[in-house]
Amino acid sequence: MKTAVATALLAAVASYAAPTKRAVTDTDILQYALTLEHLENAFYHGFLDQFDDAAFTNAGFPDWVRGRVKNIAEHEAQHVALLSGALGSAATQPCTYSFPTVTDPKSFMALATVIENVGVSAYLGAASSIMESAYVTVAGSILTTEARHQAWLNSAVEKAAAWSGPEDTPLDFDEVYSIASAFITSCPSTNPTLPVKAFPALTIGTDGTITTTASTAGTYVQLIQGLETNVFPVVNGKVQGLPTTQGIAYAVLTTQANSTLVGDDNILAGPMIFNAPFNSKQSNPAPSF
Ligand SMILES: *[C@@H]1O[C@H](CO)[C@@H](O)[C@H](O)[C@H]1NC(C)=O
Repeated sequence: MKTAVATALLAAVASYAAPTKRAVTDTDILQYALTLEHLENAFYHGFLDQFDDAAFTNAGFPDWVRGRVKNIAEHEAQHVALLSGALGSAATQPCTYSFPTVTDPKSFMALATVIENVGVSAYLGAASSIMESAYVTVAGSILTTEARHQAWLNSAVEKAAAWSGPEDTPLDFDEVYSIASAFITSCPSTNPTLPVKAFPALTIGTDGTITTTASTAGTYVQLIQGLETNVFPVVNGKVQGLPTTQGIAYAVLTTQANSTLVGDDNILAGPMIFNAPFNSKQSNPAPSF
């Protein structure tokens, strides 16, 4: 059955660059997902232990907020249990983590919205690499739950819109791992080795100045948001014409000039996360691309 809507959708999908296919197995993908779930689980449980009801109230949150965050933490523990159960003896064990920007319930909640967004992008980006269809359903059921977490955190707590736009953003394995690894201090040496790597950090100043350990010669910044990727040249270490985004967007430094071909194979640094929630009382203006 190919309706007009389906045809339009297929055309849109065809013009979108699927994350680069890699020689990853389903076990790799489950271990990768579990790596992220362990991180989320430790993040929520660690800070809920640290910030009690009074800390949340003192930070100005209504009295029901912490209980709901606790519920999210329980979901993450359940995701860990689900994936660990599927992997059995091949299950990745938790690492130790560091979240230096978190100093109080407010900064904890702000980072939670970002971490949930990255979780959504990770499952979305990995979906096309999963071989076993039953795992797609499991991953999908976790993905939609992470999206609800993100929506609630953004909307009810950050008073921002519950979404970034009409489509969420799929990210490749290395892009996600680059973000996650910044929070990982060390892992048990017995953990399975994942076929993923972390790119050097990327920072783009408000005037477009790029700070990174990677070379900026002959490079581009690609801005990824939803299923849209847009390319901006880098001249003398400055990205040219990068627009202001709303919601969550990801910028990478790449040797690739073609926006449909950007991916783990050609990224040099990043992603840098732009997180500028727009006011949910206003309607969503058109993207500024
Ligand atoms: C970008 O890559 C796609 C896929 O290979 C190709 O169809 C398209 O023509 C390329 N665009 C440009 C401007 O080279």
